[in-house]
Amino acid sequence: MRAAVLSSFGPASVMEIAEIARPTAGVGQLLVEVHAAGVNPIDWKIRNGWMSERYGCDFPMILGFDVSGVVAETGAGVANFRRGDLVFARSDVGAGGCYAEYAVLNASTVVRKPDELNHEEAAAMPLAALTALNGLREPGRLQAGQRVLINGASGGVGIYAVQIAKNLGAHVSGVCSAGNVDLVRELGADEVIDYTSRQPLQTDGSWDLIYDAVGSLSCAEARDKLGPDGVYLTLVPADGIEFFFAGQTERQPRGGYFLVWSPTAADLETLADWVRASNLRSVIDSVYPLEEIRAAHERSQTERSRGKIVLRIKADA
Ligand SMILES: NC(=O)c1ccc[n+]([C@@H]2O[C@H](COP(=O)([O-])OP(=O)(O)OC[C@H]3O[C@@H](n4cnc5c(N)ncnc54)[C@H](OP(=O)(O)O)[C@@H]3O)[C@@H](O)[C@H]2O)c1
Repeated sequence: MRAAVLSSFGPASVMEIAEIARPTAGVGQLLVEVHAAGVNPIDWKIRNGWMSERYGCDFPMILGFDVSGVVAETGAGVANFRRGDLVFARSDVGAGGCYAEYAVLNASTVVRKPDELNHEEAAAMPLAALTALNGLREPGRLQAGQRVLINGASGGVGIYAVQIAKNLGAHVSGVCSAGNVDLVRELGADEVIDYTSRQPLQTDGSWDLIYDAVGSLSCAEARDKLGPDGVYLTLVPADGIEFFFAGQTERQPRGGYFLVWSPTAADLETLADWVRASNLRSVIDSVYPLEEIRAAHERSQTERSRGKIVLRIKADA
């Protein structure tokens, strides 16, 4: 099979398209024929060698956590999927492995793809939307009627965070640059703040949750703008921020947190249900063939993506 293979850490040019052996599904796993794979900033952070403590240095390495495709093989112990099922997932196997024609996935992370999404729209969603869901729910504890500020509302995580916060019944203020104001409003934000003309935190009132998908806000200033039980959640670790782990229940009022979470089929099913109810959609910034993986990473590294970047790996029949 063809795959984008990493033989060392470095710039986008270290990724090479190579012919390698097709993997097989182990116990509790599926082999999926990949139709589309999502590109996320974590991919180029791993590629740069910034995350080797977490993801190791086991070369050759195949990146790509997000996938949409067709089940090609079921491993022992997998009863709920069959060959031919259309599925999507956020891989929790190694560094992802989805920049390839076939990927092995743990069945515990896989869900049937909603018909409403094509493979590119489905591959765009899992990592970013699960990040948004996990953060808004814990530690955010976002409730109907509460006020949330979402910084980076037009980016990969932000487009889903805005929609999910609305699905939870919150009042949403989205922050983006002028060119993305209409998009963020269309996604459901009640208020849109253009950060190029106004400081997002210099407003009257307070927020129950400040969700910083960029890491550009000052933690101290953000905490000053929280209500008595609010929290500041950032997706980029910084000074003064504590890790908030999956399953953790305790949180400090007006605390600052960095989210650590794991993908589950149950959470992805929640997203799929919202998609089926027309309450969640993907916004695609750009689509690249696998051969143009370097250009896809360079686009992501601009940190100006308007929605999601996707690799098309197999054209739909
Ligand atoms: N902890 C986790 O589990 C987790 C999960 C997912 C992502 N992350 C991290 O979260 C970050 C965001 O991920 P992503 O996928 O959303 O990235 P992304 O798609 O690259 O985000 C791009 C967006 O960021 C916006 N942006 C850039 N500078 C901004 C600023 N100063 N103020 C407001 N918006 C700004 C851009 O909007 P404009 O063009 O309008 O400026 C653009 O739409 C990355 O660092 C990623 O690694 C962490």
